[in-house]
Amino acid sequence: MIKAIYGTRDILPTNIHQWLNLESIIRKTMKAYNYSEIRTPVFEETALFSRSIGENTDIVSKEMYTFTDRGETSITLRPELTASVVRAFIEHSFDKIYNLSKLYYIGPAFRQERPQAGRLRQFHQFGAEAIGCEDPSLDAEMIIMAFRIISALGLKSLTVKINSLGLPAERDYYREKLREYLKPFLEKLSAESIKRFDSNVLRIFDSKDERDIKIMSSAPQLIDFLSESSLQHFETVKNALIAAEIPYEIDPALVRGLDYYTHTTFEIVSNSVGSQSALCGGGRYNGLVAELGGTDAPGVGFAAGMERILLACENENVFSVSPDALDVYVCRINNDFKNDAFQICLKLRDAGFAAEIDYLQRSVKAQMREANRLNSRFVAFIGGTEFLEGKIRIKDMPSGTEVEVKSSDMESLIRIIRKD
Ligand code: HAM
Repeated sequence: MIKAIYGTRDILPTNIHQWLNLESIIRKTMKAYNYSEIRTPVFEETALFSRSIGENTDIVSKEMYTFTDRGETSITLRPELTASVVRAFIEHSFDKIYNLSKLYYIGPAFRQERPQAGRLRQFHQFGAEAIGCEDPSLDAEMIIMAFRIISALGLKSLTVKINSLGLPAERDYYREKLREYLKPFLEKLSAESIKRFDSNVLRIFDSKDERDIKIMSSAPQLIDFLSESSLQHFETVKNALIAAEIPYEIDPALVRGLDYYTHTTFEIVSNSVGSQSALCGGGRYNGLVAELGGTDAPGVGFAAGMERILLACENENVFSVSPDALDVYVCRINNDFKNDAFQICLKLRDAGFAAEIDYLQRSVKAQMREANRLNSRFVAFIGGTEFLEGKIRIKDMPSGTEVEVKSSDMESLIRIIRKD
């Protein structure tokens, strides 16, 4: 038997209503903040990701699904969507059309990581990007919007972590200072961190190794190496969060796993999902558009993992959405009027109701069981002597009351089901 690929998951009809509900909250909130949806392809030229996310990041160096297509082009399944959105921004000259592009997306992303709770190889992200403006209020807007969406689901144990990575020159200088500090401890670091010492020294802050954590706890902090204007940017973000009553913590170790960030970085973390606790991550990326060949447009954005968010909801027992109920189940009393029953069911559907009929030749009792399973509000009985007399009996399931209408009078039938 052929099974789904390790680390991928079917979203089954039993769960789809939860996904659709989450998507509708996302769309509604994005609309309130004036973001428009963009849909980009799931695969892109590999260089797009290696240039934006960075050659030395975990994502690019070991997690991408990369293959050569028949035209011998190196293709990669997108590990995230920011790079694709920026590519589309440049390709369609959005900077010439709009002063500020506010875009959002919902879609799958792919990373070849070791699957575990909250970590998949195909997962889904929703996110937003605002490109074309440097105003720190937009950094705050991203954090507020992500927080509003996630907390609208009822999740409680959330922490908003923020940090500032300053400008590339400030970071370069700090990297040197950090290496100077780490040199005497080099042999005490984990093997992974020793590798990162040269390639990506900031990422040593992400290590889960106890020895590394202890050494890093006394390391110099980037915030102390930021210029006045970088600190001012960060200050404005913090003030906007306070005004919006978003509780946050400053986490100087929040360096994020992608290279494109400048200034603000942030994550929303849940205490109810185990080790894969980041529900959402983002930040400002002022050099990315230029790096990918566009104008010097600054940007800021975030992305959130939908499976992880739904896992947190499951663990906190919130956001349990029941499937949409059926409006009416058409029950055949006998087979003599099978075609009439089918035609009435079709008319009800055309009138906009969710209607179902039995196709399996089941008994009336079995059809009623099915109507109950589908949580049908009404059952319309077609057949028997009453139908011969030109009548349809309609049962209101919650109250058990029954009324009859003329089978030729679809208007009345529709009015009863519409409850007006
Ligand atoms: P990221 O932190 O790599 O950032 O991913 C964002 C979120 O995607 C994570 O917080 C997590 O919830 C989810 N996620 C990541 N990998 C997996 C996985 N293997 N399985 C399940 N969920 C996962 C970005 O992707 C940036 N593009 C965010 C951004 C947008 N920055 C600026 N704009």
